[in-house]
Amino acid sequence: MLFPVTYRVNAAGHMEVGGCDLVKLAREHGTPLYVYDEATVRQRASEYVAAMGSAGQVLYSAKAFASPRFLRVIAEEGLGLDVVSAGELYLAQKSGATGDRIHFLGNNKSHEDLEAAYRAGATIVVDGAYEFELLREIVPEGKRTPVMLRLSPGVKPDTHSHISTGQLDSKFGFSIESGAAFKAIAEALQHPRLEVVGLHSHLGSQILALGAYMQAMEIMLDLLVLLRDELHFEPRKLGAGGGLGIAYTRDDDPPTPRQFVETIRHALETGCARRDLKVPGLVVEPGRSIAGPAGMAVYTVGSIKDIPEVRRYVAVDGGMGDNIRPKLYGARYEAFLASNPDHAPDRMVTIAGKYCESTDILITDIEMPELKTGDIIAMPAAGAYCLAMSSNYNGIPRPEVLMVGDGQAHVMRRRETLDDLIAAEVF
Ligand SMILES: Cc1ncc(COP(=O)(O)O)c(C=O)c1O
Repeated sequence: MLFPVTYRVNAAGHMEVGGCDLVKLAREHGTPLYVYDEATVRQRASEYVAAMGSAGQVLYSAKAFASPRFLRVIAEEGLGLDVVSAGELYLAQKSGATGDRIHFLGNNKSHEDLEAAYRAGATIVVDGAYEFELLREIVPEGKRTPVMLRLSPGVKPDTHSHISTGQLDSKFGFSIESGAAFKAIAEALQHPRLEVVGLHSHLGSQILALGAYMQAMEIMLDLLVLLRDELHFEPRKLGAGGGLGIAYTRDDDPPTPRQFVETIRHALETGCARRDLKVPGLVVEPGRSIAGPAGMAVYTVGSIKDIPEVRRYVAVDGGMGDNIRPKLYGARYEAFLASNPDHAPDRMVTIAGKYCESTDILITDIEMPELKTGDIIAMPAAGAYCLAMSSNYNGIPRPEVLMVGDGQAHVMRRRETLDDLIAAEVF
């Protein structure tokens, strides 16, 4: 699924999402423009929830993309949230989310982060022994706060090394292999201010083969046997993380959210049965696979530069400031001429951004129809980790963001102004 579920080519021959013509939206709202399809967000989120059933909990990982209107749709579909900073927590609370549906993660939570998480009533996913000390100061005597412990199962998934987290050599979590996890759980169970409700893991992101999750589950369940036998501890919740990959190009064929949940559930349930363990509630926390396919980036072509026999650069009015992914980990995208997406490709071009870095290239070598200045191009699968990682590099305001559905477009985030750029400056 490269396009949002409502995508079609309309009677004018233009790309349309949520009943809205992308060329018209570009004209009315300006570019760069990010367009989220509400139906896709709901379909992806509800597929997770339906597959999970009563076996556990689905949290949306707010780091992939968070905006109040978007988070309200997520809440309406029955998902909780995973946040990683007091800032994400603040945005979630401002959007109406309550702490009892929030998990607070992060490998180096500050005193302020943990205090905010405690006050909100969120479940804190402890990532290092340092947090035990901080929580001793934050949680008042006589009280206990719910925590999970993040484990590092020692499994390396088949994804880019920059977005792989579950292996031994990782800054995240207590390693099972080294014995650190067992020691930390024993310490947490003795901690007077903590109630250990579960254990957590997350292997990485943009994972297209589910075998790593089955492998990690086996490793965690072996640990659960040890914990039951030696510490008489059986967690109520077991987190398998997020990480399901999406299609960025027509060649990608990722598993569905249903396949993701069912594979992990099966590994959990059969693994527990084999070990005579009580089945804990499963927690998954997808981000990319919900926000990613729902979002399209829309740009206008500006300068075109030909280097005969070498390359044609087609520059657009966005780039690494709104989408750093191609440069951060070699992410690949497709692009389409929004006024005629079915037009046969004419020639190979490279789509460059407008930022003053020669590495600011969105797509290297893509076959496109003949493009001219003023054309609108749309990049699918741009809903996750693009705006979330955006910057004001080169003093360029961030784009406007729309949510579309039933032929209506709602502004979720207005285009930044020049005054926004200096709002925090002290003159
Ligand atoms: C701990 C944790 N949970 C969940 C996610 C969401 O992952 P994804 O967006 O790939 O589903 C991430 C992102 O890498 C993460 O670090």
